[in-house]
Amino acid sequence: MNGQGHAEKWNRRHHEAADSGRVAQVLLRNRHLLPEGGKALDLACGRGANAMFLARSGLETHAWDFSAVAIERLDEEARKNELEIQTQVRDVLVRPPQPDSFDLVLVSCFLERRLVPRLMRALRPGGMIFYQTFVRDVYLHRGPSTEEWRLAPNELLHLFQGLQVRYYREDGKIFSAPTELSDLAMIVASRRS
Ligand SMILES: C[S@@+](CC[C@H](N)C(=O)[O-])C[C@H]1O[C@@H](n2cnc3c(N)ncnc32)[C@H](O)[C@@H]1O
Repeated sequence: MNGQGHAEKWNRRHHEAADSGRVAQVLLRNRHLLPEGGKALDLACGRGANAMFLARSGLETHAWDFSAVAIERLDEEARKNELEIQTQVRDVLVRPPQPDSFDLVLVSCFLERRLVPRLMRALRPGGMIFYQTFVRDVYLHRGPSTEEWRLAPNELLHLFQGLQVRYYREDGKIFSAPTELSDLAMIVASRRS
């Protein structure tokens, strides 16, 4: 599928979805690590539950997704909630973030390994990455069916080596009961000041 066809597929999904989605556990569990201010990016934001969380946390929030439907829905929800979010319909593979441009970059449920060096470079000194997505070692069978779009064991630690790890967690099938963390890996890591 080309980029256009892929965006159309996502437009349909976002059109059918009931609400804005869920706030990522990597944010909910690490509120204390959020900077007090500065510029944040929710990359591949979908309908923007995370972007709204970041805006409510006092960050100047930008949110990008290549689905025009997702961005329309986020704009509408932000307006209703009187939140200021700078949204863009943007293919992040074609137009990744500029170097030294954000104090926080959040990525949830989106895995494009070739973007990772650009994400690390996009951080300003002291800036932080919050990243969460699905692992291959599954318990609940949530997330993408394609193996390539799921993380290998410890993969986030390898992808973001060079940053200082502040938090890391990986919940595969070793757990006896499902939780909201099942099948997910997450990292918070920062660039040196
Ligand atoms: C599984 S959804 C995750 C949405 C959101 N981050 C969340 O956690 O709810 C993946 C998102 O990536 C977006 N996406 C996929 N490829 C993209 C690309 N090349 N550029 C921008 N957005 C993209 C899709 O439109 C979709 O909204």
